Amino acid sequence: MPRRRRIYEGKAKVLFEGPEPGTLVQYFKDDATAFNAQKHALIEGKGVLNNRISEYLMLRLAEVGVPTHFVKRLNMREQLIRQVEIIPIEVVVRNVAAGSISKRLGIAEGTPLPRSIVEYYYKDDALGDPLVTEEHITAFGWASPPDLDDMFNMALRINDYMTGLFMGAGLKLIDFKVEFGRLVTDDVEQIVLADEISPDSCRLWDITTNEIFDKDRFRKDLGGVVEGYREVARRLGILQEANVTDLKTGEPHAAEVEESTSEK
Ligand code: TMP
Repeated sequence: MPRRRRIYEGKAKVLFEGPEPGTLVQYFKDDATAFNAQKHALIEGKGVLNNRISEYLMLRLAEVGVPTHFVKRLNMREQLIRQVEIIPIEVVVRNVAAGSISKRLGIAEGTPLPRSIVEYYYKDDALGDPLVTEEHITAFGWASPPDLDDMFNMALRINDYMTGLFMGAGLKLIDFKVEFGRLVTDDVEQIVLADEISPDSCRLWDITTNEIFDKDRFRKDLGGVVEGYREVARRLGILQEANVTDLKTGEPHAAEVEESTSEK
């Protein structure tokens, strides 16, 4: 069993050193947090489901030409990814009002937006990930104008593709958050989709009943969080026979590695 060095631990994932230079192992935990980590719980099986759902979405997006950090899934909770320099911006795309836009602008949750709206949030937990504009991003050098252009175009492309994909699975893509990274290969820098795409980072409602199947089940104390995520996986055709027992198993080797100083 290889013992891997821990590079970074976030709220829902851990990054370990990968088998080769330029790779990392991304481990999905069962931890759920909300409201800037003021609310925390362990949702048994969430990590297993997010690993599978994110794998599926990254592969589908790669097929339609969206470059990603994803290499391959290693086991129930881990995937091999390319090491990238994460751009400290959360890119949110919204199709229907919900969450913070509803609160900020007083638009009832469920109201279709006149067009898809792209928003940027600066990744800084101490500041509570504030909403920022393109001006802030380029002025402070978080991303260059051409990088931001790539991120904007890719975010809309991801939205178009995923809207159709989820619609085919009987789900409405209300909104989602993505992160991008800089990948350097042979001295050429490219912006690629990074992090994860899962019900932790999307809002997904049933197309007819508006039943919620995403992390809002946790945020709003609706219960049945893992059941919601499992339904998303089932509808995407990922886990035909998933049951709770499946999700408890698969503790990976990386779970036991020695801790090194985390970077952040
Ligand atoms: P919001 O309505 O809270 O701004 O969230 C918009 C979308 O972004 C929603 O699908 C949840 C996702 N999101 C994250 O993935 N991480 C976060 O830290 C936040 C605030 C939102």
